[in-house]
Amino acid sequence: MNQFEENVIFKPHLAQRPELDKNNHWSGTSFTGAAWDVYKGDALTVLRYLPADHYHCVVTSPPYYWLRDYGVSGQIGHEETVKGYIEAMASVMDEVHRVLRRDGLLFLNLGDTYYSGKGKSHGIDPKSAKRRFGLRAVDKSGGLGIGIRPKSVIGIPWRLALEMSTRKWVIRSAIIWHRKHALTESVKDRPRRSYENIFMFSKDRNYFFNRGALRDVVVEEDVWSISARPKATNGIDTAPFPDELVERCLALGCQEQGNVLDPFAGSGTTLRVAVGTGRSATGIDLSAKFCDYMVRQLGALL
Ligand SMILES: C[S@@+](CC[C@H](N)C(=O)[O-])C[C@H]1O[C@@H](n2cnc3c(N)ncnc32)[C@H](O)[C@@H]1O
Repeated sequence: MNQFEENVIFKPHLAQRPELDKNNHWSGTSFTGAAWDVYKGDALTVLRYLPADHYHCVVTSPPYYWLRDYGVSGQIGHEETVKGYIEAMASVMDEVHRVLRRDGLLFLNLGDTYYSGKGKSHGIDPKSAKRRFGLRAVDKSGGLGIGIRPKSVIGIPWRLALEMSTRKWVIRSAIIWHRKHALTESVKDRPRRSYENIFMFSKDRNYFFNRGALRDVVVEEDVWSISARPKATNGIDTAPFPDELVERCLALGCQEQGNVLDPFAGSGTTLRVAVGTGRSATGIDLSAKFCDYMVRQLGALL
């Protein structure tokens, strides 16, 4: 058995659950003593197996609407209508609500999409398979069923946040993440986009919040200026968020040694930062390739 295999224990008791059998679940312990679990599968399906009121903090960045193709069937983000996407995401967040502790917080990072309505393919990047689509719903002429005109920004993050607010969540903050040094868009008739939202949601009026963690960044109450992650060079291009963003969310919203969850874990940034700071972490992702990468990274944290 090599060092990696020793550190990654398979859990045979999950074999009765087809979605969570040993081929789809890996776990281990990091050098900080913090435990981690990775599940390969659809977020909504896997979340239904996780215990209620368990996680102290959730930090996640779900697939954006029609921005990438992760190459896995069942992926969220390619719905024909905005309502379909919002419904899919809000249903996952209903389950996140169930597994989050009453005093827990959810940090949800989401970017927006434009409705081009051009009637022809758009956004094809010959250098990136992740951006190769056929005719995306957001390029089709005839509208998206929500009454907006071509060239409109859709307002995806707020549409989802407002839907979630009608389903038990409390929107406590709509943080702006100013993406420093992000790749610029080549647009000439509007300002280039330089920010995304990070919504901070709670379940209850009272929850764990460490205001002291904002003392070091006093000028950055709800506008966080954090450099975007440079383009991946390892072939694992999940559109990862930066470690610093996760560090800040956890410093604010997760007690020491708390349990952390990311239902769209990608390359495992949330898990890596969480276990690195002594918190246990659970990640879910639909992509076998990303899970494999994540497990290897976590397994190497000895
Ligand atoms: C924006 S990426 C997350 C990136 C991550 N924050 C990181 O730092 O690498 C979104 C992820 O959602 C995954 N995904 C898409 N549909 C999914 C689904 N139905 N269930 C679980 N994961 C899904 C994709 O494979 C992708 O890794």
